[in-house]
Order: sequence, then C-alpha cells, then structure tokens
Amino acid sequence: MLYAGVDLGTSAVKLLLMDETGKIRNIVTKEYPLYFPHPGWSEQKPEDWYAQTMAGLKELLEGSDKSELAGISFGGQMHGLVILDAEDQVIRPAILWNDGRTSEETDYLNNVIGKETLSKYTANIAFTGFTAPKVLWVKKNEPENFARIAKIMLPKDYLAYKLSGVHCTDVSDASGMLLFDVKNRCWSKEMLDICGIREEQMAKIYESYEAVGTLLPEIAQELGVPERVKVVAGAGDNAAAAVGTGTVGEGMCNISLGTSGTIFISSEKFGVDKFNALHAFAHADGHYHLMGCMLSAASCNKWWMDEIIGTKDYAGEQAQITKLGENHVYFLPYLMGERSPHNNPNARGTFIGMTMDTTRADMTQAVLEGVAFALRDSLEVARALGIRIERTKICGGGAKSPLWKKIIANVMNLKVDVIESEEGPGYGGAMLAAVACGEFASVEDAAAKLVKIVDTVEPDPELAEKYEARYQQFRQIYPACKEIFEAIR
Ligand code: XUL
Repeated sequence: MLYAGVDLGTSAVKLLLMDETGKIRNIVTKEYPLYFPHPGWSEQKPEDWYAQTMAGLKELLEGSDKSELAGISFGGQMHGLVILDAEDQVIRPAILWNDGRTSEETDYLNNVIGKETLSKYTANIAFTGFTAPKVLWVKKNEPENFARIAKIMLPKDYLAYKLSGVHCTDVSDASGMLLFDVKNRCWSKEMLDICGIREEQMAKIYESYEAVGTLLPEIAQELGVPERVKVVAGAGDNAAAAVGTGTVGEGMCNISLGTSGTIFISSEKFGVDKFNALHAFAHADGHYHLMGCMLSAASCNKWWMDEIIGTKDYAGEQAQITKLGENHVYFLPYLMGERSPHNNPNARGTFIGMTMDTTRADMTQAVLEGVAFALRDSLEVARALGIRIERTKICGGGAKSPLWKKIIANVMNLKVDVIESEEGPGYGGAMLAAVACGEFASVEDAAAKLVKIVDTVEPDPELAEKYEARYQQFRQIYPACKEIFEAIR
C-alpha cells in the first residue's frame, strides 16, 4: 500500500509518497508566497496551500498505482490562525507562527491573566506566535472579521478539512494554540472564555495517528484515487518530524533546522518546565514532549546567501570555512524576533566582532554558528531541568549541510545521528497515515521498523571545548543588546 505525507511548510508544501516498507517512492515540492505586510508580520493564503497541495498530490502520484493509496496525513507549520465563516470560506489570510504583531495581547495574557494561570490551564505561557493572542488581536483590530468566525483552525487542519470535509485537529498541533489543556488532551474552557470564543468554533480533536474520515468523493475523483483513502489527523510539523526521525517514547531528542529551528525532547510522561521557557506539548505518539523553538534558523542562512551576498552556491560558500571554533565574529539570529528562550518579538539580527581582516567566510560561519548557539540556549534550559541528553537526531533543510551538522554537534556537545531520510515532517506524516491504516501497531512500532540511522557525527573534544568558550561569549551578547533592540524598533 502507499501512504502520502504532506509537509505544509512556510516556504513550500513538500509531499512524500512512501510504501509499506518505508521506501520513499516520490517527493514533490510546491512553493507559495509568504507575505510580510508590515515589519514583523507574516501571512499566507490558505487557498494557496490547498491549490499547491492538490497540484502536488497529482504530481506525487504520477507513475504509481493510484489504487494502492491507502492514507494521507500531514505535518504542518504550527500556531497559524486560519478563520472560516459559516460557509467555510477563509475570512482573512492566515497569521503565521513567526508573526510578531501580538505583543500587546501576549503581554495581556502573560501579565493580566498571568503566566501561572495560563500554565495551569494549558501547560504553557503566551508567545506572540501562538494562536490565542492572534484571536485576541483579530477581536480588537478586526471586529467585523471576528464576528464572522464560525471555525478556528490550524494550517494543516484546513487541508484535512478541504480533503475530508471534517473540521479536525490533532493533539500536538492543538497544543500550540494556548487554547488546549495539554495534560488532559482537550480544549480548555477557561482559555476559550478568556478569548471570547465558544467550543463549537473549535475543531474536533484527534490523536495524530487517528483517521478523521475518508476523501470527499469529488477530491478522490480529481486525484484519481479510491474514495476509501483515509485522511489522518497528522501532527504539527515538529511532532511529525520527531515521528519521522524516530524521536518517540522516553527521552529522545531531535533538532530541526528548517525555517524555524527546534529542539524536541520526547517524554512518556506529562511534565512542564516551571519557567515555561520550553513548550510542553502533546506528542504524536500518544505521549508528550518539551520543545524550544527559534524563529529563524535555516532561514538566516538563506537570507544571508540569497538576499545579502547574492548566491545560490551554499556548498561553495561553506567550503571556504576552515577555522571552526576560532571565529571572532558573532551573529544573533533574531531576524523575526525570538521565541525560545528570550520570548522577545523585538530582538533583531546582529553581527558583532568584525575587524578589517574579517572575511565573507567568517560572516557565513558566524551565521551558521549563531543558529547553533541559539539552539544551545534551549538545550541549556532542558539541562537546567535535569534532562540528560547525549545524542540527537537531526532533520530539515539545514541538516543537508555536513558542515552545519558538525558545528551543531560541537557547539551542543551532542552526538548527532543522521537518519536515512531527512524528510522529517513529510516522512512522519506518511508514517502516521500508515499507523492509522493498520500497517503498524503504534507510532513507536512504525518508528522502530522504518527509521534507520546511517551515520553519527561525534563531537571532537578539542573543538567542543573551543566552542564552549565561544558559546559563553555568545550568551553575553543578547543581554547587552536587549535595551537597544527596544530603542530601535
Ligand atoms: C514551533 C514553531 C515552528 C513552526 C514552523 O513552535 O512555531 O517550528 O511549526 O513550521
């Protein structure tokens, strides 16, 4: 049988077709625009996601026996606010996970409602990218749109709805809304009240590996596949990526180097970081996880390469980098503000430490290192909670660079296990579809049977020591710049 995984990303939708042995049969990528209507705002059109997903699914299935398709599932960019009216029409463009417009609403939730109360209801505090502050923003700034809301959805759930006709979501993605009681895996009535919304405006909650229904007849016909194809709830992209890299069960770690950068720690038991610097979310394997998320990771390198130095030759630029652990240039990767651990939408990207002999390669290196240092900030929060991590998986576009993997291994002093397929969320999505179709007994079973480690990047003690010293310097830069970031916004 065949299973499709749809990774609804920020720059593109990536679709993957997998067979029951885990073999990838095809991968298709379809891009769509990202809009920045004001500095710090970030939007996309759900209609673009749907059109490109349908085009992508058709291309994905070309050359395969379409009657073998059994299930479709998703890994989707998290936290985005999609609002539908009573006719299920999109009311306004989606406000994305890296949108920083909700400072006021976030401050209200954290300071007036209070972090302790939020944490009691949802296991999390407010961050500008989370969904609840966006609901409050629409309520205040676009009351006519707010009045028309019949359904509040997350990005990938809009796709599942368009394919199946079911208003659904899954526990992992719902966790990032700040409307969800993570521990008990249900909507938080208190949070819905705080945001002025009713439970019937929310989607029905499923575990990530549960089918929500089958394809609508007209969709099955358009794709040329059987109507019995199951549409499976899927997961937020990080939980789906964790499934795709086998980061399930107790105490496993995955790093994702995509547009965002995340460090994801799976756990069999529910637990909250008492400072809420890490997110405490439900996992797609039926359990829980902690996660730190930086808003700009591989996107910093893309920005530096494409926009600033103007090249597409990423490997060529990285080949000029020879002095690991000895760079005097530092880069703060806060091009969209920062979430974990600083929770500051006004933080900005910064280079510091250049001299007349600084080279282009030093600057490129600083960008790669800055992302690794910022990820380490979240790892340090986990370490301070007593969580012992010695190794991690890695996935995402940035994980294709051997140099970046080496920098990550040494900056974080972790063994980095490289998986046969780096297609984290897409592969995880296809695995969730396979579980829902009964191909595997559980998500853990699927991970044990399908995910293969092909290489391990070991930290080199001498280099890790050099990076330790550099990291201690890096940590001092953000506090020193914090006030300036406020002044220049
Ligand atoms: C996670 C987060 C990002 C997006 C990116 O909390 O905001 O990783 O899911 O797609």
